[in-house]
Amino acid sequence: MLAIKKIAVCGAGTMGSGIAQITAQCNFKTVLFDLNEEVLSKSRLLIQNSLQLLTTKGKLSEEAKEQTLNNLLFTSNLNDCKADLIIEAIIESKEAKLNLFKQLEQLNNSETIFASNTSSISINALSAEMQYPQQFAGMHFFNPATVMKLVEVIKADKTSDAVAEQLCLLSKALGKIPVVCKDAPGFIVNRVARHYYLEAMKLVELNLATIENVDAVMEASGFKMGPFKLMDLIGLDINYNVSQIVWNDLGKPERLKPSTIQQQKVEAKELGKKTGKGFYNY
Ligand SMILES: NC(=O)c1ccc[n+]([C@@H]2O[C@H](COP(=O)([O-])OP(=O)(O)OC[C@H]3O[C@@H](n4cnc5c(N)ncnc54)[C@H](O)[C@@H]3O)[C@@H](O)[C@H]2O)c1
Repeated sequence: MLAIKKIAVCGAGTMGSGIAQITAQCNFKTVLFDLNEEVLSKSRLLIQNSLQLLTTKGKLSEEAKEQTLNNLLFTSNLNDCKADLIIEAIIESKEAKLNLFKQLEQLNNSETIFASNTSSISINALSAEMQYPQQFAGMHFFNPATVMKLVEVIKADKTSDAVAEQLCLLSKALGKIPVVCKDAPGFIVNRVARHYYLEAMKLVELNLATIENVDAVMEASGFKMGPFKLMDLIGLDINYNVSQIVWNDLGKPERLKPSTIQQQKVEAKELGKKTGKGFYNY
């Protein structure tokens, strides 16, 4: 039986906003925390607009929209993050995540489940620093979290069976499809998909194809989104970071070496859709 009633999502960026919207829409009391007030205001607007669009299209009743908004608390006060489940979706930095988890441990108790939405940081490495490692797991949503069905539930060596089961039950309650994965660099999707991005960038780097060509060909062959459009959606900083971590953790194999053109984009702060410019202009 699902025991999770209240959820705190930490980080109101691309992923945190989407995750909080879906949990609130599915009637879980949801706290959405971010340090940055401006990000919180943007997130509130984004969620309101997204819910309004669903209502206009007849996919969500007016009452359900109001209920969803009532289920949400936007806050920059960490003390509000007392919940049955914490879903962390802040920047992809082990130090920042651990620092936040340590503060959250003080506010919560031994029953609270802690989950990280990290794309690439080892769940075992994070859980090793936790007071109750059996309560800790990965819960990896995909972008956009309101739409994408897959959730990788990453069971670390010490994650209890009961916690993995709760995260699977919750995913199903959110209309998602959970897949339990072991903790390995990139888990499943980001490990397999690495080549989708890296080989595409290699072709462009070697002047063998253009960005537009590669995307058009991959989309025509059945992929929903070409690799360059997808990287722009994910955020080039996030995608580059994942490449670096997977490459490092697997012993720096040549085939997984991060791309120079992506590094240049990140250094130029051309991070994709979120900054208005990436491989494409928005
Ligand atoms: N972008 C994707 O496609 C994607 C997909 C799956 C998983 N992820 C993972 O989700 C996480 C978040 O990614 P994102 O794309 O939403 O990033 P983002 O940059 O859009 O948002 C991160 C947010 O975290 C906030 N933040 C930073 N430090 C904080 C702290 N100490 N406390 C509270 N908030 C803090 C920032 O203000 C920002 O709003 C990362 O771990 C990433 O690897 C991303």
